Amino acid sequence: MVWTVQEREDPVLEFDHGEGVFFYDRHGRRYLDFLSQLFQGNLGHGNRRVIEAIQRQAERACCVSPQLLTSERASLADALARRAPGDLGRCFFVNSGSEANDQAFILARLLTGRPKIFAKYRSYHGTTYGTLGVGGDPRRAAIEPGPPGTVRFFDPYCYRCDFGLKYPACQIHCLDALERQLQLENPATVAAVVVEPVTGAAGGFPLPDGYLPRLRHLCDRHGILLIADEVITGFGRTGAWFGVDHEGVVPDLMVLAKGLTSGYVPMGAVILREPLAQVFEKRMLPLGSTYAAHPLACAAALACLREYEEQGLIDHARRMGELLFARLRELASRHRSVGDVRGKGLLACLELVRDREHAPLVPPNIDSLLPLEIRRRAWSEGIHLLARGSLILLAPPLIVQPEHIDEAATKLDRVLSWVDALEPTPHTN
Ligand SMILES: Cc1ncc(COP(=O)(O)O)c(C=O)c1O
Repeated sequence: MVWTVQEREDPVLEFDHGEGVFFYDRHGRRYLDFLSQLFQGNLGHGNRRVIEAIQRQAERACCVSPQLLTSERASLADALARRAPGDLGRCFFVNSGSEANDQAFILARLLTGRPKIFAKYRSYHGTTYGTLGVGGDPRRAAIEPGPPGTVRFFDPYCYRCDFGLKYPACQIHCLDALERQLQLENPATVAAVVVEPVTGAAGGFPLPDGYLPRLRHLCDRHGILLIADEVITGFGRTGAWFGVDHEGVVPDLMVLAKGLTSGYVPMGAVILREPLAQVFEKRMLPLGSTYAAHPLACAAALACLREYEEQGLIDHARRMGELLFARLRELASRHRSVGDVRGKGLLACLELVRDREHAPLVPPNIDSLLPLEIRRRAWSEGIHLLARGSLILLAPPLIVQPEHIDEAATKLDRVLSWVDALEPTPHTN
């Protein structure tokens, strides 16, 4: 029962087991997992090191109060602090990406004493009241008007610029617009600005080069905290350890989940800059949860970090990303339904269009069956991807090899031929 009209999902794909970049259904059919399930399985299926680490931990200790220190929690916090940029040094563990963003928003309010959170229109930060309501993704309709203090700003969505401009000639005009909006809202009431370095399912576009350093500077000028939602982009997904590393920017709070444990055990985390964490040495931190830093999750995360490092998977993801984008651009040159190819590393997005004028295949906020049909087509070709609105998102496990990218391109070619042949009928709501 997730993100769907239930009856539309019939027949449902019944997962049986996975191996590396493949998984198999109950009937033995093989699927190339070009979504790492839902962006979380960075190490692919059946990683022995992670499985054995979980098994060993299960034998030793599974049920530990979050008030007690465990060696695995301390080792994980150390390992993350070593990997995280700058002085991001203190970890606050939770159980999912939604919870991590939720807590990051509360932490930002506690630390600044200010009420407002600025988020992009095309963003998704989670499914709790606090995160669904802050993100701009249409799913927010479920709880609108949502949490007080939420303010949304226009994205650097260069393919369909909200200001009708072109990057780089625009000199990132959307940040000038954000600055004006901050002034009108009174920056002294703004706790944080939250961004994903590459927008995931809400748009699939990277922040353009130069955006993050300028946003960092803007936040600094007004004492506003910068939150990087790295739930998808963390742990090599974009070809760097974290999405912010491409620009050498250190956010105040970094939000992690998914690749942290490669999805083997649920876990999320917020990493804070050391001076911010210091505030809670003398002040009450009114946050925490029963399963925070669960020993099985810590064991899985530590094993994942070792795999990323020892297998050199971050560099590998960057190299494989170059191959993937070369193949996707070649497909786009032959398929009239592909309007844009974008993303970073092994996080790729195709934006589908309906006609030569580049009308979106599915206009925003329209309930269409097309994405479901595209996903079914893809499954019938034996490839797992995300189809949402006019977007196809691809995010293979970091262990992907060139032959898998070739196979994916062949399968996608057939899916896109089917999309090309669709009648250009306009949508009505
Ligand atoms: C960017 C981003 N943030 C937060 C979340 C929420 O994470 P979770 O589903 O683990 O709660 C997601 C989920 O896909 C996400 O893509």
